[in-house]
Amino acid sequence: MSDNNQWGSRLGFILATVGSAVGLGNIWRFSYVAYENGGGAFLIPYLVALLTTGIPLLILEFGFGTKMRGSTVLAYKKLSSKWEWIGWWPVISVFILLTYYIVIVSWSLKYIFYAFSQAWGTNPESFFYGTNLKLTSGVETLGGINITVLISVIALWAINYFIVYNGIEKGIEKASKVFMPLLAFLMLIITVRGITLPGAVTGINKFLNPDFSQLLNSKVWLAAYGQIFFTLSVCFGVMITYASYLPKDSDVVNNSFITALANCAFSFIVGIGVFGILGYMATHSGVPLEEVVTQSIGLAFIAFPKAINMLPAFNTLFGILFFLALVIAGISSSISMVEAVVKPLNDKFCWSRKKASTVVAVLGFLGSLIFTTGAGLYFLDIIDYFNMQFGIVTIGILQCIAIGWIYKASKLRKFFNPVSNFQVGSWWDFTIKYLTPAVLAIMLVLSFIGEIK
Ligand code: PFF
Ligand code: NA
Repeated sequence: MSDNNQWGSRLGFILATVGSAVGLGNIWRFSYVAYENGGGAFLIPYLVALLTTGIPLLILEFGFGTKMRGSTVLAYKKLSSKWEWIGWWPVISVFILLTYYIVIVSWSLKYIFYAFSQAWGTNPESFFYGTNLKLTSGVETLGGINITVLISVIALWAINYFIVYNGIEKGIEKASKVFMPLLAFLMLIITVRGITLPGAVTGINKFLNPDFSQLLNSKVWLAAYGQIFFTLSVCFGVMITYASYLPKDSDVVNNSFITALANCAFSFIVGIGVFGILGYMATHSGVPLEEVVTQSIGLAFIAFPKAINMLPAFNTLFGILFFLALVIAGISSSISMVEAVVKPLNDKFCWSRKKASTVVAVLGFLGSLIFTTGAGLYFLDIIDYFNMQFGIVTIGILQCIAIGWIYKASKLRKFFNPVSNFQVGSWWDFTIKYLTPAVLAIMLVLSFIGEIK
């Protein structure tokens, strides 16, 4: 009983893919990674990664999904039953990501409530680790589950379950049509607030001024490629699955560019706002810009509360809207991950959508539990590192080999080019067959070397 869901409209599809792409990754991960890797210097590798890997892979996934009409598992099985295992790989990776991504969204949900009274007080750092996470230092204290995080995680799993359970048009598309306009509106408020603060220019300069010496630093390049995969949701099976619900004559190339550009524009605009706020904090508190933020997770849950404390007016409202934006961006991404796990179960075992989403929600919730313990952050760091640095990169290489060489890139291009508004040239075949896998292989090697050192 394959479920015959379809998108109600092209707009609905675009809103859902942009919803998947725009997430926590754009609001705090992008800003933080850019900040750590030389601010403006990061934008060049980021754009190179977008053009040489991000967009070509998105075209591949939209093309392959539209053509094969199924989850990654079914798509690779149709390629050859020998290759079905490739299709399971992203399903496992995305499921793992989902279990902790939801937990980060759950902190954001809690912070909406904290924002009402600025409950984090004058020391947001110890509040985040202590009161919020009840963090302990290592595995040994796994014992205590954090009740408020747990409640928030349950709420988020319930929302995700409800949306995916209702299917593509009635669930995901409908939710995206509400979430995305709201998110765009919140983004504007955050950015306008950011750039109009005194001292904002210092921060924005740091963001936009290229530091070309950093271009020789391999770490910056690794970070840029990693960020592109994460931010575009490619190599997670999500985009293949979403595209499989489109009519066969859909415009693959245009859809890819719209999704990628909307996602990156969002990151860029929010980045300007976030750096404006950081610049204000530096000016206001006299702390050098380099020291305003220290940790990835800190940007949203430590630096922002600090910034909210310092704002000249509307602190409470701004705080609520900021964390609301994180929650909405987070849910519109997590539902795409749930779908990418639900659909293969339907394709492979003929489970109904209801049954598959119930199983995924229950197992996913159980998986999330580990991140709600006192050692949650410790596990999150390690698992995220291996999942992203090795898992996803390997999937990227496998996809390029399977489609570039076995299915043949030129054949896929012949399928989607005729129905696309503008055509991609043979540069695309070259990218998928040689360029992208070569770059990814280098990334993998560099990560290994970094591991050994
Ligand atoms: N693209 C999302 C973000 O930037 O937050 C994260 C994401 C969503 C990753 C969906 C993977 C995925 F399958
Ligand atoms: Na993103």
